[in-house]
Amino acid sequence: MLDRAFSARRTQPHSLFDVPTSSAVSDVSPDAESADLLADESKTKKPHLYVLASNYMSRLGLVKSPCLCLSLCLLLSVFMLFSLMLNSRSFVCLSSYDPISRASFFGLDGLDSDFGSLGVPWCRSKQGKTVEWTSKDLVKGLEEFVPIYETRPIKNNMHGMGFDHSFGLWFIAQWLKPDIMIESGAFKGHSTWVMRQAMPDTPIISLTPRHPEKYLKKGPAYVDENCTYFAGKDFVDFGSVDWERVLKKHGISDFSKVLVFFDDHQNELKRLKQALKAGFNHLIFEDNYDTGTGDHYSLRQICDQFYIRGGGHSCFKDSDEARIRSKRKKFWEKAVDIDELCGPHEAWWGVSGEMRDNFNHNNTPISYGEHFQNSRFVESILDVYWELPPAAGPSLTHQTRYDPARAPTPIVEDGRYRMFKRLGLDRLERSVFNGYTQMVYLRISKPET
Ligand SMILES: C[S@@+](CC[C@H](N)C(=O)[O-])C[C@H]1O[C@@H](n2cnc3c(N)ncnc32)[C@H](O)[C@@H]1O
Repeated sequence: MLDRAFSARRTQPHSLFDVPTSSAVSDVSPDAESADLLADESKTKKPHLYVLASNYMSRLGLVKSPCLCLSLCLLLSVFMLFSLMLNSRSFVCLSSYDPISRASFFGLDGLDSDFGSLGVPWCRSKQGKTVEWTSKDLVKGLEEFVPIYETRPIKNNMHGMGFDHSFGLWFIAQWLKPDIMIESGAFKGHSTWVMRQAMPDTPIISLTPRHPEKYLKKGPAYVDENCTYFAGKDFVDFGSVDWERVLKKHGISDFSKVLVFFDDHQNELKRLKQALKAGFNHLIFEDNYDTGTGDHYSLRQICDQFYIRGGGHSCFKDSDEARIRSKRKKFWEKAVDIDELCGPHEAWWGVSGEMRDNFNHNNTPISYGEHFQNSRFVESILDVYWELPPAAGPSLTHQTRYDPARAPTPIVEDGRYRMFKRLGLDRLERSVFNGYTQMVYLRISKPET
């Protein structure tokens, strides 16, 4: 069952340029997708506008000299291009003196390489396994999920999941087909609803301090009929539950058929150790914050290490990294510059050298040595590490939050508007694309002795 999700394929290299999910779209071959490609290509083969206009005006006899006509049309085209850039809703306001970021934003790439010296770390797994699903499966999944998402009961899920992670949770749950799903951190119940859409008859256990039904008094919320809630006065933290006993009540003895979803903003190292101790294998962490950001220590942060490709940072103020960071910060809300990245004594790991926990109510300064050991521990239990790519590139979704250079290549890459539209993604409000934080799926097992 769940085992079908994994293959012994080697994890592909993962840097800024070749993360495991890169070329998400180019893998997709058949039918409509090929049609999209052809249609896009055909556009580039059309004669230039000014040539067409010149021919047309000449034909009308409006301008007798072909040279004069051509010049007039060139001027007209330049004017139209500028007016389109200034007025179109498709263009966000980018400063004009930064051609690299502007070009990068519009997907005119190769320019992502500008961020290449920072790279993107990717946690190493024991055997180098990766997930079984392909980019083609993700595209198909998007097509199926968009109409489902449109029926969500909580339209405005501010402080909860947006579209990208809702899709990720739905996709992984329906692929793995677990016997039971556990969630830690339900808020108004949107993620419970997403899991229910993936698995209509599978029981859910939800741990959350405030029962979602409480939110119903003020507005939309979701309470599931086939869900056991440990909420309100019955709330128990994930780490304190006797899972053997609770799951036995549900007739579950095989923990490899359980999917655990964490969206509770707790230190992910702590959660990982608790899940391992309980015997769970399949975990999803909703907020897999990048180094220097977020309110809890994350897998992404833990694996940001010099010895992992794409990992490690420099706090040197005149470094390439410092220059690139300050540039990117102008365009992406979650990008951090070197001053935010680095704490006292040039501590860049975690968040300025801190291991954060519980919505940043607790934060413990840790040494680089401890941070390094944490990564080694994580590697010793990881069978699979897979970051969900964003659904679509920022020039399509208009998101301005996450820095695309610190994320896997989107499922629908920038410039693929026809595909974006075909999948129905153009029907969604822009705000739903603003919550991407590298959701991650892990498969774990006890360390080999
Ligand atoms: C970001 S919200 C969850 C959003 C939700 N998954 C969604 O998609 O809408 C975080 C939730 O975690 C809950 N929480 C706080 N501490 C927790 C804990 N120790 N265990 C489980 N949930 C916790 C909060 O009350 C809040 O409802």
